[in-house]
Amino acid sequence: MIEADGLEKRYGEFIAVDNISFVVNEGEVFGFLGPNGAGKTTAMKMIQCVSPKNKGKLEVFGMDVSTDQRKIKRLLGVVPQESNLDPDFSVYQNLLVYSRYFDIPQKKAENIIDELLDFVMLKEKKDTLITLLSGGMRRRLLLARALVNNPRLLVLDEPTVGLDPQARHLIWEKIKKLQSLGNTIVLTTHYLEEAERLCDRLVIMDNGKILVEGKPSELIREYIGTEIVEADNNPAVLDCLNKTSSKFEVVGDTIQVYTDDPQAVMNALLKECDFGKVIVRRATLEDVFLKFTGRKLRD
Ligand SMILES: Nc1ncnc2c1ncn2[C@@H]1O[C@H](COP(=O)(O)OP(=O)(O)O)[C@@H](O)[C@H]1O
Ligand SMILES: [Mg+2]
Repeated sequence: MIEADGLEKRYGEFIAVDNISFVVNEGEVFGFLGPNGAGKTTAMKMIQCVSPKNKGKLEVFGMDVSTDQRKIKRLLGVVPQESNLDPDFSVYQNLLVYSRYFDIPQKKAENIIDELLDFVMLKEKKDTLITLLSGGMRRRLLLARALVNNPRLLVLDEPTVGLDPQARHLIWEKIKKLQSLGNTIVLTTHYLEEAERLCDRLVIMDNGKILVEGKPSELIREYIGTEIVEADNNPAVLDCLNKTSSKFEVVGDTIQVYTDDPQAVMNALLKECDFGKVIVRRATLEDVFLKFTGRKLRD
């Protein structure tokens, strides 16, 4: 559905997307992860044909984004990072106006809109003004709007940003449903749990570059191990771990040991070290993310 090779985007001298290559296959949920400023939105905008690339190849549906913008846009559904719903209009009017960009006849558009409002559970809000909707409702409406033209590919830029857990779970459910109906979905997020649940494959970006690509479970296994043993950070435990071949990292007042055999690590700690509190937890995509992008604060 998408093929990028050596893709680059510059703003003046600044390189926002730096020589990235990736392929998105039909039917998959593909994620772009990365800290603020990594270049995710810039990459999404090039896919959406709203921001021209400077270098490299980018094809969507096998068509070149530089020459076939109109055709590509007709087959795409887009949820932008910032809501751009028209605040002067109602829920229904927003969808109706949007349907006109795709030359959908009014009668047909009305049917589509009814179905979509049902899908995103906004039927009762049909005549409500945008300004009176909650954040979760706006996100759901943006998703409905992205579906008006029955797209084959959905590009969702931070679809759940700022939502409460209920609203977020509802969006996840809808994304899963859309995938099961045969849609291909590209999304960005910095909620790692979200990416782990939803994405078949993903890339982690930072400073415009792709640092790593793969299936969430494989990335965790390859770069972290299946489990993490966390112990209090004290000199005795450190000393003890230094004598073993364990892979570990000191994070503030805890030590994280990366392992596929937590029992062995626990036994070693129990036998050899004078430790305080120890817990075992499953390794997550967040561990992979922090390993690749570091712990330094971003903007
Ligand atoms: N229109 C623009 N002009 C100049 N710099 C931009 C513009 N848009 C984005 N940038 C810069 O490009 C980098 C990547 O931004 P963005 O793609 O929005 O990152 P992300 O979505 O991963 O947070 C940031 O450093 C941002 O400040
Ligand atoms: Mg962004």
